[in-house]
Amino acid sequence: MKIAVAGTGYVGLVSGVCLAAKGHDVICVDLDQEKVDKINRGEPPIYEIGLEALLKDNIGKRLRASTDLREAVIASDLSLIAVGTPFDGSAIDVSFIRQVAREIGFALRERDEYHMVVVKSTVVPGTTDDVVLPILERESNKKAGVHFGVGMNPEFLREGDAISDFMNPDRIVVGGNDEKARDMLAAVYAPFEGVEIVRTNPKTAEMIKYAANSLLATLISFSNEIGNLCASIGEIDAQEVMRGVHLDKRFSPIMADGTRVSPSSNTYLEAGCGFGGSCFPKDVKALIAHGKRHGRDMALLDAVVSVNAEQPAKMIELLDKHIANRKGVKVAVLGLAFKPGTDDMRESPAIPVVQTLAEEGAIIQAFDPIAVDEARHTFSGLDIHYAPSMAAALDGVEAILLMTRWDEFAGLPALVSSMDSPPVVIDGRRMLAKDSVPRYEGIGL
Ligand SMILES: NC(=O)c1ccc[n+]([C@@H]2O[C@H](COP(=O)([O-])OP(=O)(O)OC[C@H]3O[C@@H](n4cnc5c(N)ncnc54)[C@H](O)[C@@H]3O)[C@@H](O)[C@H]2O)c1
Repeated sequence: MKIAVAGTGYVGLVSGVCLAAKGHDVICVDLDQEKVDKINRGEPPIYEIGLEALLKDNIGKRLRASTDLREAVIASDLSLIAVGTPFDGSAIDVSFIRQVAREIGFALRERDEYHMVVVKSTVVPGTTDDVVLPILERESNKKAGVHFGVGMNPEFLREGDAISDFMNPDRIVVGGNDEKARDMLAAVYAPFEGVEIVRTNPKTAEMIKYAANSLLATLISFSNEIGNLCASIGEIDAQEVMRGVHLDKRFSPIMADGTRVSPSSNTYLEAGCGFGGSCFPKDVKALIAHGKRHGRDMALLDAVVSVNAEQPAKMIELLDKHIANRKGVKVAVLGLAFKPGTDDMRESPAIPVVQTLAEEGAIIQAFDPIAVDEARHTFSGLDIHYAPSMAAALDGVEAILLMTRWDEFAGLPALVSSMDSPPVVIDGRRMLAKDSVPRYEGIGL
């Protein structure tokens, strides 16, 4: 199928590259000429494991990038909308979606064959039917369901595992207003054999994405509330508590041969320094706001957000126990990205922690395996020493704050043990054993 993808961020670029790898002819479109040029040179503008190799394999063959959405739509059977939908404090900002819908609609005037328009961005229920569809009809002077189809296909990829998630989906949600639209959208995923497909209407498809992210965020805030209580009571380790919870056979089923299955959902049932990223915080807040507009008070999700907002400060509280005055004190911050495997720092718990330390006059020695360029941008104006390695970040420090669960941080105890005066290690992800360093603090301990 010939596919145009509007937006070459995490979702648009990964979708475009993977769909080309699966045999479709794809044109990735972005306003940003620099991104487009990079993509055409085979250089991914974002970091994702496996993205560069897959891009290089496909660019110039079944994949190309362009700034011309009109030309891409006219040449395609289906358009995917994958532009950003930031939360503006009261609702998602759909101005990028509107702009793209206007351009696609206008281009449809010049396309004689049926064309399918699919929203892949995360949008609140009703957006595809009530915002996108009317714009397309108005701009094209054509009728949805007759001359073109409209659909919604939420994306579930996780940053850091984006290529692998897209290539091996656990489910595909095909939201369409009629059978023809659903069939055409399902055909995009025909090369992904054996994957369960949820065929539904656009509103339900939109809601599935919010329900899924809100549930995962709820598990995290639940675990953090339990962890904070464990720490307050004393002599309880939240990690042991949650292990006891995980072993419930409804969370970790016991198979007929007696072996245990430990689903990855259990990794959301762990105490830590909070969730971040471009999706969970934004999506939960957007669903709360949308729910309130529909007369629901959304008390549970409100609490999920407020528990999470307090969580990074727990790292500072633990530091307080050891070093009350941080002025002029060297502190290492390990991990700046919101999760391992990505350079994305949007809403990373490291941001408020670094800002607090900077305000207090601490000397910050930060290290992240790949997010340093992003960090320089995020923390522009702050005096931060970016260390070239984990070992270099530890030079002379009195405390180490571990903010991201990067695999290589498992080597931290060996480095700490070789230091003359061991710093306190504050483990925001509970990834180190408690006795692996002389002075250990962890969330929920
Ligand atoms: N990042 C994730 O992990 C993830 C996962 C699932 C769903 N989503 C959702 O997917 C959507 C996109 O997220 P993202 O992280 O890829 O966003 P992003 O901000 O990384 O990328 C958006 C891209 O769209 C481009 N753009 C904006 N207006 C345009 C226009 N008129 N024409 C062409 N290009 C335009 C921007 O230049 C940018 O490159 C959001 O709704 C997000 O919530 C994101």
